[in-house]
Amino acid sequence: MAVMTANKARPRGQRTLGQGTALVTGAGTGIGAAIAQRLAAQGTHLVLVARDAERLEVAAQRLRAEHGIDVLVVRLDLSLPDASARLAELVRDAGVEVEILVNNAAVAAVGPVAEADPETMRALIDLNAASVAQVSAYFLPGMVARGRGAIVNIASTAAYAPAPYNAAYAASKAFVLSFTRALWFETWGTGVRVVAVSPGAVETPMNPGRGVGKRRPEQVADTVMRALRGRAPAVVDGRVNAVQAFLFDRVLPTRTVTRLAGKYFRAAATRKSRQHSALAR
Ligand SMILES: NC(=O)c1ccc[n+]([C@@H]2O[C@H](COP(=O)([O-])OP(=O)(O)OC[C@H]3O[C@@H](n4cnc5c(N)ncnc54)[C@H](OP(=O)(O)O)[C@@H]3O)[C@@H](O)[C@H]2O)c1
Repeated sequence: MAVMTANKARPRGQRTLGQGTALVTGAGTGIGAAIAQRLAAQGTHLVLVARDAERLEVAAQRLRAEHGIDVLVVRLDLSLPDASARLAELVRDAGVEVEILVNNAAVAAVGPVAEADPETMRALIDLNAASVAQVSAYFLPGMVARGRGAIVNIASTAAYAPAPYNAAYAASKAFVLSFTRALWFETWGTGVRVVAVSPGAVETPMNPGRGVGKRRPEQVADTVMRALRGRAPAVVDGRVNAVQAFLFDRVLPTRTVTRLAGKYFRAAATRKSRQHSALAR
């Protein structure tokens, strides 16, 4: 079920949710929260979407207080089949015109496919890939009709190579990248900016802990803000990540990049299963 809360404190007659609003999925933590923060700082009203409404509400209160913007909180599980339609309906009923859509919500699941729960895998694909396409399809027509707007789809450097031990996640991100590049072409000249932004490893709840070359969510958010002003269909966050994506995408043979990615994610899967066994003891 969806839960919505809006800013009720604002007196009548003042700015309300409507024009100049961005919708950010997965906005309660990590990269989504950092993007919401950057958008709020430039005075953009927000619709924040995720499953944990309490966490979103805490973020919403802070953003309203710090930036004087209107924030609508929508609790939704975007992996559910009717969630995208419900989101479009809730936003329409609230009288909000979404000018910037950031499809950011996703989950990861490292480990071999042979040990994966098939239903969890399907939910990952539904959230990471299907909902990105579906939510885009719900909000794009309004943007095209108004002759302005933007869709930012958060992909990953994992989109640029098959990833053994992270197979479904990387494949879902390859879908996001391919879908976004195609949509970029379709929307050229309509006034709607479409771009995929691919982070590498970023320190967030999805990928906790520090590591060599790991980026911060705020750096990715800055890349997103720059990408919104640019023209490219796909942008990689961070110089080292951009070189890696270029090599994986355009230079190295697929078998080589598959082996390299497999080595990286097998180590990540081993670390994760060691942590789980330690917690279970
Ligand atoms: N961190 C990295 O290393 C990394 C690298 C490359 C790409 N990325 C991409 O960056 C994006 C953000 O990830 P992050 O690292 O910031 O992870 P995160 O902190 O775990 O954020 C994911 C967000 O998605 C929301 N979410 C998860 N399942 C959902 C569902 N079924 N319905 C609605 N919302 C859902 C979560 O909120 P709730 O739990 O409240 O629903 C959370 O706010 C993702 O697209 C991810 O694939 C991350």
